[in-house]
Amino acid sequence: MQAKPGWWQRAALYQIYARSWRDSNGDGIGDLLGIVEGLDYLSWLGVDGIWLSPTMPSPNTDWGYDVSDYLGVHPDLGTLADMDRLIEEAARRDIAVLLDLVPNHTSSSHPWFLDAIRAKQADHRGYYVWAPPKPGGAPPNNWTDATGAPAWTLGPGGDEYYLHNFLPTQPDLNWWDPRVHTEFEKVLRFWLDRGVGGFRIDVAHGLYKDAALRDDPPAMPGDHPAALRDGHRTVYSSHRPEVHTVYQRWRQITDNYEPARVLLGETWEFDPRRLAEYYGRERPELHLCFNFAFVFSEMRARSLAAAVEATLAALPLGSTPTWTASNHDLGRLATRWCHGDQRAARTALVLLASLPGVLVLYYGDELGLGDVEIPPDLQLDEMTRGRPGGSRDRCRTPMPWQPGENYGFCAPGTRPWLPMGEQASTNVHSERADHGSVLHLCRQLLALRRCGRLAAAGPVERVLLDDQVWAFRAGETITLANFSPTTTTRELALGGPLRTLASTRPGQTGEKVGPVFKLGPWEALVLTP
Ligand code: NOJ
Repeated sequence: MQAKPGWWQRAALYQIYARSWRDSNGDGIGDLLGIVEGLDYLSWLGVDGIWLSPTMPSPNTDWGYDVSDYLGVHPDLGTLADMDRLIEEAARRDIAVLLDLVPNHTSSSHPWFLDAIRAKQADHRGYYVWAPPKPGGAPPNNWTDATGAPAWTLGPGGDEYYLHNFLPTQPDLNWWDPRVHTEFEKVLRFWLDRGVGGFRIDVAHGLYKDAALRDDPPAMPGDHPAALRDGHRTVYSSHRPEVHTVYQRWRQITDNYEPARVLLGETWEFDPRRLAEYYGRERPELHLCFNFAFVFSEMRARSLAAAVEATLAALPLGSTPTWTASNHDLGRLATRWCHGDQRAARTALVLLASLPGVLVLYYGDELGLGDVEIPPDLQLDEMTRGRPGGSRDRCRTPMPWQPGENYGFCAPGTRPWLPMGEQASTNVHSERADHGSVLHLCRQLLALRRCGRLAAAGPVERVLLDDQVWAFRAGETITLANFSPTTTTRELALGGPLRTLASTRPGQTGEKVGPVFKLGPWEALVLTP
């Protein structure tokens, strides 16, 4: 846990895909005690909190996002006692532990669902969304699930469909039933009482569905492709306004805890004004909201500047923006933004670290780690197997700690649960030994955030923007970056000499610079008076 009030407003959070970070017991699967082993590394790196991908019991049809017990720990990852130990050891290092909470759906093996499918009169029937077939037997409406198939599957009696926005093994909960609210408030308190620093909320925009189950309308010109499902706007199957009442309540609950706890939403919104609503209009809601318009920007000056400026213009005063470029669904920043160019990965880190608010790194980003293509016969992710975007397994591969067999993730001779690919010198040990590495740059950036030189709350003022270069002022620093592989020169009218606070080029800190800047390929600088 983090003791400082408001610690989360400038936090560097670090997402750990728990199965893939560090294996402590030799079964080829990362676990909670492995994370305990790695805490000193995280403390050295300078992170303020970790977000663990789902840790609760689950049959793993969606690798933990199909929860069968919200109050437990998955046996692959350890025990409740291990979780308590992790929370305690992390707190000793001033690191908060955020859990992944999945309130949109349960596993079809959850006791609530097992009861719900027993009979229409079953106690828990109303916990889920049921509807009769259309005449002729077709599903109740046109909603599709994450694989593109109908979002409805017939229950055992064959006379009612249940809803699943993801896999059929992930039935959606019915948030119109007040008992579901009570259950999740219990879950929240159970973990908050154990000392978790908060939650990342899965599918935060999706809990409520249209009460009349209306068809989703077709896409409109200009819609963001990632906002659509099967060519439709998901305005009835999710994104309902009632969801805000849930977060108002959850915020009241978390606000009663000391030290401060945090709610971080997976808010799949592409319009910054709608994103802003999740921070709360009349009453506070989520502390932090993932910003997918930014995540889906291209690694280009104009695209990033537009996303940042639109976000900051829309967010309510005093709210904390959240910046990330990678996660376990979409890929690692070194690949998806930077196409494997390590120079660009450095620039991405400088940019992410300089923006005001919270930074979320995905494990391996600090090393410049890229995705690993997994051959089809070894792919494990059912939701994306054979799908056009490729398997999500590519960005869930185990963490490389050191050179050699299994890269220190698990014992030699053990088979990691997913292949690790060829990591060459991209591993913690080699990069710690090299002061010019991506890892050392990342550590330096996090240290600058911690001491308040970077990421202070406030506006981002454009100093210069063209097709290649973006320079902005945030707080007392100016970040200047060349988003291209060619050298270029710009003059900045900054009214006085500046020094380099951080640079993508190793060893360039502290120099007096300007007003003319010759920027090498993908070079980025943070400048200070
Ligand atoms: C979003 C999660 O990040 C993803 O991994 C999961 O498959 C879906 N939600 C469903 O829970």
